[in-house]
Amino acid sequence: MPDNLAGPSIGSDIGIALSYLSQGFPVGIPTETVYGLAANALNPEAVQRVFRAKKRPDFDPLIVHVGRKSPLHQYAKELPRQAQQLIEAFWPGPLTLLLPKTTLIPDIVSSGLERVGLRMPNHPLTLELLDKTGFPLAAPSANLFGYISPTQASHVREAFGLEVPYVLDGGPCSIGLESTILGFESGQAVVYRWGGIELSDLTEVLGYVPQVKVKAEEHPAAPGMLARHYAPKTPLTLLNENEDWPLATERAGIILPFQEPLPAEHSVWVLSESGDPFEVARRWYAVLREADSAGLTRIYVRMVGPDVPFSQALNDKFLRAAESN
Ligand code: TXA
Ligand code: MG
Repeated sequence: MPDNLAGPSIGSDIGIALSYLSQGFPVGIPTETVYGLAANALNPEAVQRVFRAKKRPDFDPLIVHVGRKSPLHQYAKELPRQAQQLIEAFWPGPLTLLLPKTTLIPDIVSSGLERVGLRMPNHPLTLELLDKTGFPLAAPSANLFGYISPTQASHVREAFGLEVPYVLDGGPCSIGLESTILGFESGQAVVYRWGGIELSDLTEVLGYVPQVKVKAEEHPAAPGMLARHYAPKTPLTLLNENEDWPLATERAGIILPFQEPLPAEHSVWVLSESGDPFEVARRWYAVLREADSAGLTRIYVRMVGPDVPFSQALNDKFLRAAESN
């Protein structure tokens, strides 16, 4: 029985992905952070289809994904020395650089902004795809706007209908949190979104601590900064590192980063039984989806302490999932 009538078909055939992309159709692609919904970044109609499929407002620009052979100078007017050093250190990997764009990048990609976000994803299938396309791929995370980010091909399939014909399946994402976004203001690095590269890593390469402007604003430099984002449908409440368990007055579930004595009256998810912060990051979105589908009236999430790797990125995602509840 055909099982792909309701949504995109899934497979690991780069030729099929390439063929749809070349014809201007959106394709789900794996990266090490989260799955992307990709289109030829140089084709405005193809990019428009991505905005439409995601129900994404046109003021929220897309990151352009490049491959090992991509001619960066054709997309970015300037490549400051600091940017080159960061590229050298972290590409392919979870770092997006905002750089002044050339006219080759259509305005729809950058939502009319003067900078374009560029990143080289660290996934073998997508790197191989990018070697073959001859064009870079504009790709937001492959979720409906505002909902939980996808870390498996099946998540992409659940989100879209036939306007997305194919999802390239590269397995579960190895990092599971979005890329860190960094740009320059008056020659100084500024972090706009927490993600897979930590402040300490950036500091080591730059030789100074970059400024951080990761705040929910009405007109954000990066709309991933919108207060409520990456969010479940179930109301979500945060618990501080040492806060007591809530009373079980509702049908509540709890997501814990690490193992701790468990209250019997709740549904409990532990992100990493073995205490591995990388596993916490990797499993967060998938577990949040599961909790969101469990028919709960509330989800509690324990925040992580400041010394845990990725604490800024993790607590930031937790916070945005909870905002306005
Ligand atoms: O890890 C990632 O970055 C994933 C994978 C697929 O690469 N992509 C991703 O895309 O998270 P998206 O669209 O969900 O989030 C990208 C964020 C948005 O908040 C967007 O506003 C910001 O990057 N952004 C993209 N281009 C920008 C630009 N030119 N100026 C300012 N912000 C930009
Ligand atoms: Mg996103």
